[in-house]
Amino acid sequence: MRTSILSTGIVALTTFFSYVAGQDFAASKGYYTDPTTGIEFWVNYMSEGNITGDGEFSTVSWGGYQWGIALPQDAATVDTFDYIGMIVGSTPNGTGWSGVVHGNNAGAAMSNHLMLLAWPYNGEILTSFRYSLAYADPVPYNGSATITQLHTEINATNWKLVYHCKNCYLFDQPGQTSSNMSTSVGHFENGWAQSYIPVSDPSDPSSPIVQHNNGMGEFSVAIASATQASYSNWATLTATHTNTATATAAASTTTVSSQTIPTGVTYDYIVVGGGAGGIPMADKLSEAGHSVLLIEKGPASSARWGGTLRPESGWLDGTNLTWIDVPGLCNRIWQSGGSNGVACADTDQMAGCVLGGGTAVNAGLWWNPNPADWDVNFPAGWQAADMANASARVMSRIPGTDHPSLDGKLYMQEGFDVVSTGLGNAGWSNVTANDVPDQKNRTYAHTPYMYSHGERGGPMATYLVSANGRTNFHMWLNTSVKRVVRDNGHATGLEVEAFNNGGYAGVVNVTSTTGRVILSAGTFGTAKILFRSGIGPTDQLSVVNQSTDGPTMIDSTYWITLPVGENLDDHLNTNLVISHPSVKYYDWLAAWNTPNTTDSTNYLNSRTGPFAQAAPNIGPMFWEEIECSDGITRQLQYTARVEGSEGEASGTTMTLSQYLGRGATSRGRTTIGLGLNMVVSTLPWLQNDGDTEAVVKSIEHVVSALNTVQNLTFLQPASNVSAADYVANMPLTYANIGDRRSNHWLGTAKIGTDDGRTGGTAVVDLDTKVYGTDNLFVVDASIFPGMPSTNPSALIVAVAEHASERILALSANEAVAQYGRCGGLNWTGSMSCTGTRKLPFA
Ligand SMILES: *[C@@H]1O[C@H](CO)[C@@H](O)[C@H](O)[C@H]1NC(C)=O
Ligand SMILES: *[C@@H]1O[C@H](CO)[C@@H](O)[C@H](O)[C@H]1NC(C)=O
Ligand SMILES: *[C@@H]1O[C@H](CO)[C@@H](O)[C@H](O)[C@H]1NC(C)=O
Ligand SMILES: *[C@@H]1O[C@H](CO)[C@@H](O)[C@H](O)[C@H]1NC(C)=O
Ligand SMILES: *[C@@H]1O[C@H](CO)[C@@H](O)[C@H](O)[C@H]1NC(C)=O
Ligand SMILES: *[C@@H]1O[C@H](CO)[C@@H](O)[C@H](O)[C@H]1NC(C)=O
Ligand SMILES: *[C@@H]1O[C@H](CO)[C@@H](O)[C@H](O)[C@H]1NC(C)=O
Ligand SMILES: *[C@@H]1O[C@H](CO)[C@@H](O)[C@H](O)[C@H]1NC(C)=O
Ligand SMILES: *[C@@H]1O[C@H](CO)[C@@H](O)[C@H](O)[C@H]1NC(C)=O
Ligand SMILES: *[C@@H]1O[C@H](CO)[C@@H](O)[C@H](O)[C@H]1NC(C)=O
Ligand SMILES: *[C@@H]1O[C@H](CO)[C@@H](O)[C@H](O)[C@H]1NC(C)=O
Ligand SMILES: *[C@@H]1O[C@H](CO)[C@@H](O)[C@H](O)[C@H]1NC(C)=O
Repeated sequence: MRTSILSTGIVALTTFFSYVAGQDFAASKGYYTDPTTGIEFWVNYMSEGNITGDGEFSTVSWGGYQWGIALPQDAATVDTFDYIGMIVGSTPNGTGWSGVVHGNNAGAAMSNHLMLLAWPYNGEILTSFRYSLAYADPVPYNGSATITQLHTEINATNWKLVYHCKNCYLFDQPGQTSSNMSTSVGHFENGWAQSYIPVSDPSDPSSPIVQHNNGMGEFSVAIASATQASYSNWATLTATHTNTATATAAASTTTVSSQTIPTGVTYDYIVVGGGAGGIPMADKLSEAGHSVLLIEKGPASSARWGGTLRPESGWLDGTNLTWIDVPGLCNRIWQSGGSNGVACADTDQMAGCVLGGGTAVNAGLWWNPNPADWDVNFPAGWQAADMANASARVMSRIPGTDHPSLDGKLYMQEGFDVVSTGLGNAGWSNVTANDVPDQKNRTYAHTPYMYSHGERGGPMATYLVSANGRTNFHMWLNTSVKRVVRDNGHATGLEVEAFNNGGYAGVVNVTSTTGRVILSAGTFGTAKILFRSGIGPTDQLSVVNQSTDGPTMIDSTYWITLPVGENLDDHLNTNLVISHPSVKYYDWLAAWNTPNTTDSTNYLNSRTGPFAQAAPNIGPMFWEEIECSDGITRQLQYTARVEGSEGEASGTTMTLSQYLGRGATSRGRTTIGLGLNMVVSTLPWLQNDGDTEAVVKSIEHVVSALNTVQNLTFLQPASNVSAADYVANMPLTYANIGDRRSNHWLGTAKIGTDDGRTGGTAVVDLDTKVYGTDNLFVVDASIFPGMPSTNPSALIVAVAEHASERILALSANEAVAQYGRCGGLNWTGSMSCTGTRKLPFA
């Protein structure tokens, strides 16, 4: 996959700067005139105070933090990307850095916004513009922004920088779709972060940094507050302390070593992507006797396949486990440094780019599919009755467990007890979820996981093991697929490149005429490969054509116009937060390097205790179905977990993440940037009253159920806030996407009979074959027409089981004799043309 990450932790700890959009976390605001330059700033002050954790949503910072801005007099009517700024940063313990995230009118997410980092070094302030496209360390920025230092002061505990920033609200990183903040809108969002841990090499403006530990947040700026009549005079000031050590992006010359593809070797099936779709596909196709190559972009994850990622302190050294294998470390990907080399760096959403895909990095929730998920969402041939055998095979190979600790005990159940008491009081019933998959209305359950033997398990421990036992199965890791090489509608092979050392580079071919390609690279990965192969909406193919791919892209004569990237969906996440004195937070963050030794010893010796369970104490899971005024029944699933969110600290708090699933009708879109990165450009949520009604009504029911519990406090929504107001005021903006998504993204290559080439919505037919091709298939979360009731991993595996049967049942393509028909809009037969004729014809 690449989609099924439980939302646990989505707001807990994102990398470097997180999302606090549309919100205004400031200790105080006011005006300050800098005595040296005479510039008057509108200032946002973060007070002196100690933060907990990394201080997300903080209004304080150890030593304090200030950021000021002055804007041209006419900024409220004429857009400007320039400003004069002031940072007063703190080095309370002698070192550290401070940062500004230049936001836009909606928010100041870390990704796709210009960051300015600064720190004192040898009596000067070094500055560095940074940028990040994804969940990765911000790297030097190459857009047009420039900085001129006007004045600096440094003492033992604080420093001040007054600067003129040009083009700083124009985000024009080369290769990215340009965007900007528009001052004429009247207000915008800005972000900040501060750290008292120094950058790795304080003498180097391009130095890597570690995640901020001294607060971060976001605040609103009203343009009218910051405009200044004297701006044009100040903008001509020159430095009173000269130093323009702006990062000159050190040309990185990292090269990756690659292997050459053996000439002449071909495969009956090449499966692209080793996740929830690709691994079972490769197993079933190889089981049927075909030669199969499974290509995975990322490295091994589980130790079973050669993975090596372990805690630096060494507590997993010498075991057959990486962090991927340990259930209690499943939140690692959301912690500082945890996403590097694991999360996909070419999408703005969280996705696993390692063997196992989403099933390597998620919390392992494992659901026997609710029959309604097939009946409501899927077309003929994919209804519950059609899917029953496939689902049963999945649950038989990976039964999962709701008691993952090998001693059969459930640990740290205080949270489960509190919430289930309230639900029980309100008449909701206790079920064993996977025994009664269709009981999803006012039921609750202990959480079932795909875990086995106290370890992650899942497809990597089952389907991949059996596939790997066959001599006709081959797997390439660290190899990314650039595009499908196709002769009109017939895929002949794949152009691949080494993604990490040891990956393959070149063109790998499928068996002539009868060979097939299966794309299982996930909702964003598959869409991207299709775009780069000239398959998708014309606007997206044009972007690819203007990118570095352009010169080698398939000629536009052969583009296949399909709605790839449309129909994007994800569970809408709406967090509720409660507190109860009996609930206790377990320090999962510390567990990474310094685990409680009793707990780590029990886990290593006998696979028992908290580490055999997913972080952070997930459960209960509960469900409700709401029939809305538009006549559509919508499914809500709640994941309760013991940690704070929405600005409420961890301790005695629990977050109840409400997912809006099956029945929701809003849809979004993913598009590709000039840097060949994938972006969620239209959010898929709450575009109609029915979707909103379901979310609000169910919150009302849950609030009223849980209010029956003695000593339970509702923190979010607070007791004087209605569910409707709570939902209306929770931002649904790109900047706040980290708080609203569940990373169950799906739908970008929808299955259906309404051929997208002729105005329909489907990208693949009922055999999962891409319309307009004779041997290119998509089998992953992309083909889902809509959201299921639950986390999708097990359903993606079921889809792969079923797709493998349909694909294996297709008759093999035959070469079409010269002058025979081998293409055209309504042609469904072989597209393996003989001779040199390649023009598409109808
Ligand atoms: C913050 O923590 C530091 C280090 O523990 C301490 O020296 C300092 O006094 C604290 N500041 C405040 C405002 O509590
Ligand atoms: C501050 O620096 C001192 C000396 O390097 C170190 O011992 C101490 O742990 C630091 N304090 C914090 C809160 O990092
Ligand atoms: C250190 O610098 C800060 C920022 O310029 C200033 O507010 C503070 O008063 C200075 N402290 C001392 C001891 O000079
Ligand atoms: C700034 O953004 C607005 C709104 O998206 C757009 O109309 C305008 O062209 C942008 N300006 C520049 C210079 O890119
Ligand atoms: C800017 O260019 C440098 C040098 O080529 C590169 O390392 C860096 O990744 C680029 N920045 C971004 C955001 O792509
Ligand atoms: C794949 O086929 C192409 C076109 O026939 C050929 O140039 C290439 O060498 C083949 N690749 C391998 C690895 O044999
Ligand atoms: C580790 O070893 C145990 C005991 O032999 C085995 O059950 C388990 O599957 C192994 N796990 C991995 C990830 O290799
Ligand atoms: C739910 O039902 C199971 C099985 O009947 C039982 O073991 C468990 O204690 C029940 N849990 C609650 C909270 O009632
Ligand atoms: C570790 O956990 C055990 C059992 O939960 C507890 O009794 C013990 O105090 C903890 N040890 C430490 C060092 O926190
Ligand atoms: C869910 O259960 C409630 C309570 O029994 C009932 O009123 C409601 O109609 C049910 N919803 C659906 C969609 O069946
Ligand atoms: C509620 O709090 C009171 C006072 O702290 C305590 O005596 C009582 O046992 C608590 N009840 C529950 C059910 O936790
Ligand atoms: C394709 O089929 C449709 C519907 O059967 C028909 O209306 C259309 O004329 C056909 N187009 C071509 C080019 O054959």
